[in-house]
Amino acid sequence: MSRSASIIGAAVSRIDGPDKLTGRARYAGDFHPEGMTYAYGVYSTIARGRVVSIDTQAAMRCPGVLDVFHHGNFPSLHRSPASFAEENVVDEKRVPFEDDEVFYAGQFVALVVADSFEHARAAAYQVKVTYDEDTNTVATLAQAMEKRGSTHANDSERGDPEGAYQSAPHQVDATYTTPVETHNPMETHTTVARWIDGKLEVWDSTQGVVFTRNTLSKVFDLDPSRVIVHADFIGSGFGGKLWVWPHCIATAGAARELGRPVQFVLPRQQMFTTSGHRPETSQHVRLAADNDGTLLSIRHENVNSTSHVGTVVEACAGSTEGLYKCDNLRISHATSITDRGTPTAMRAPGAGVGLFALESAMDELAVKLGMDPLELRRKNFTDRDPGADLPYSSNHLLECYDRAAESFGWSRRTPGVGSMRDGDKIIGWGMAACNWDAMRNPCDARVTLHDDGSASVHCASQDIGTGTYTVLAQIASAELDLPLDRIDIKLGDSTFPHGPISGGSWATASLLPAVAEAARAAIDKIKEYAGKAGSPLADADPNDFVYEKGMVKDGHGKAVSIADILKPQQLASATGEAHTGGAPDSGYSFGSFGTHFVEITWEPAIAQLKVTRVVSAIDAGQIINQKSARNQVEGAIVMGMSSALFEATEYDERNARPVNNNYAEYLVPVNADMPQLDVILLDHPDYELNEFGARGIGEIGLTGMQAAVANAVYHATGKRVRDLPVMLDKLMDETE
Ligand code: MOS
Repeated sequence: MSRSASIIGAAVSRIDGPDKLTGRARYAGDFHPEGMTYAYGVYSTIARGRVVSIDTQAAMRCPGVLDVFHHGNFPSLHRSPASFAEENVVDEKRVPFEDDEVFYAGQFVALVVADSFEHARAAAYQVKVTYDEDTNTVATLAQAMEKRGSTHANDSERGDPEGAYQSAPHQVDATYTTPVETHNPMETHTTVARWIDGKLEVWDSTQGVVFTRNTLSKVFDLDPSRVIVHADFIGSGFGGKLWVWPHCIATAGAARELGRPVQFVLPRQQMFTTSGHRPETSQHVRLAADNDGTLLSIRHENVNSTSHVGTVVEACAGSTEGLYKCDNLRISHATSITDRGTPTAMRAPGAGVGLFALESAMDELAVKLGMDPLELRRKNFTDRDPGADLPYSSNHLLECYDRAAESFGWSRRTPGVGSMRDGDKIIGWGMAACNWDAMRNPCDARVTLHDDGSASVHCASQDIGTGTYTVLAQIASAELDLPLDRIDIKLGDSTFPHGPISGGSWATASLLPAVAEAARAAIDKIKEYAGKAGSPLADADPNDFVYEKGMVKDGHGKAVSIADILKPQQLASATGEAHTGGAPDSGYSFGSFGTHFVEITWEPAIAQLKVTRVVSAIDAGQIINQKSARNQVEGAIVMGMSSALFEATEYDERNARPVNNNYAEYLVPVNADMPQLDVILLDHPDYELNEFGARGIGEIGLTGMQAAVANAVYHATGKRVRDLPVMLDKLMDETE
């Protein structure tokens, strides 16, 4: 391979950085087609019941109002099937305004369209809706489990977990609970829709232009070729923008009815109702171990909250199956229905909260055994995935432990609760493992070499803010032996060659091989043109052709530029296309691994808890870009810390409405909360997964963080918080 390797792994700054800083980068809400109109929703104030009447007269008289849509006048649309294999997933099965039923507070009951956002919003408050309210609502998972029970989703078992548990010398039996967390990307969900000649064109803040196209084509019963979805830039998604939500469908439907483009921006409050959230979980973990710490039995049984309008299973125990060597295991997942909007994937779905439970229980076990928690994890390490019964393609978790422990200074830890002090502060040190599946999905790409010596790359995937534009430019630059600034990456358009959603931490592992292969195909094409009649190299032996730095050389060192090769053929460019597949079926299990070591300080006199230091080591295969990879892990660590200490969407138990549905009351960390971060990126290529050896890195850094924090809190305070987030009241002595 003639790849110029130096740029792979380099700390390359985002190629789209200047566009973002100057405002040239356009997000969905920045597109203003001719004749634009603006929509604002009317949202149910009840969580359960029926709409009895909608009086739109006052709203229709408001300035600038064009129409008010609701179930009485909205066009009848189709539901979309939900199938990942068909690249079409919806979490809320209903289409908006399907009927008069209300299943959650914040559900769309009407949509006002006006000539300006302000006019639409003002009129929305004049729409008078009366309801027949069912006040017997279920606001929380605990209420749901009590009143409605749970529905089994799936389970998996090996060995004899119950027998091994009973006969083991040491047991841990604990239940861990985690709250609803709400996705809060800076950019709220945005859709701009217009119809031209029966074709639907949408600018959408989506993590998947292809999935969005497919879903809209089902809802509007259009051939997929008649739906075009754009997402040039996305202000993050965290899983909330993976699938199509009601606002997008409502906007497209309204645009068709009005015959004018419609823009819709979801208000921050409605991010808490009608566009998904991380579900609430209740996780029962039972561990048993021998005197030397060998795990004899693992059970991890989960129930998560879901809704009337969709069933989302949070796969909390996914990592539990394969992280430790243990012959006796049972995991299970179930759901229970609340009267809330439907949940969805949120950064590291499953493992994100699942490892809070497992890795807290491991810490509890270490305490029972009188064993160092790091030693307990080393003891039970496995380089074979016992869940899949396959060896891991590449697993350097032990090296992660070594390097993070060394950098953190773990050997200086004294195990006693409250035994480490700094003046009035008690210091707590905790650690946990982290883990995420390494996945790869089929991908197409097109690479074009132009006669001005530049190259372009097209793929219908997208950059949700993670650095996809940049890593693709690095790969194209390496393959084409061209400087980075000669590469133009085009993403975020459903008409480009098929690309995967940006989710699951699989974009990099999926896109890189396709772009590289397409680049090589483009090089082959230019070599083919070089051998044709009229070419300056027509007389040379094509077998001797070597491509280098935008030139084709013959066996005698004669070098001809792309322009000079294309010109005699009267061509502007040479194009290569590629299709690459999903994860190879090569007898390996693919995963990424890592660990977090966390220091907290607890100052009882003033009840101040602070995460002061985090050292993390992550094994995610070959790192393609040191800068963007580190940025992903650091962001995920902060999000994990946020999950540990801050985030929880609270619902009013009387009416199932979210209470803290804004940035003032939904707590997230600010700069003053930031710990010192030390991220160690291992760099062992995993060539079984793809030719670059790169796995994903977007999600793993969040996993395990909550447990590492909670374990540090226990070490400092002796309080085992099994119910996230770790709020101060949970650390106070009842007597105080
Ligand atoms: Mo991720 S939760 O797959 O965007």
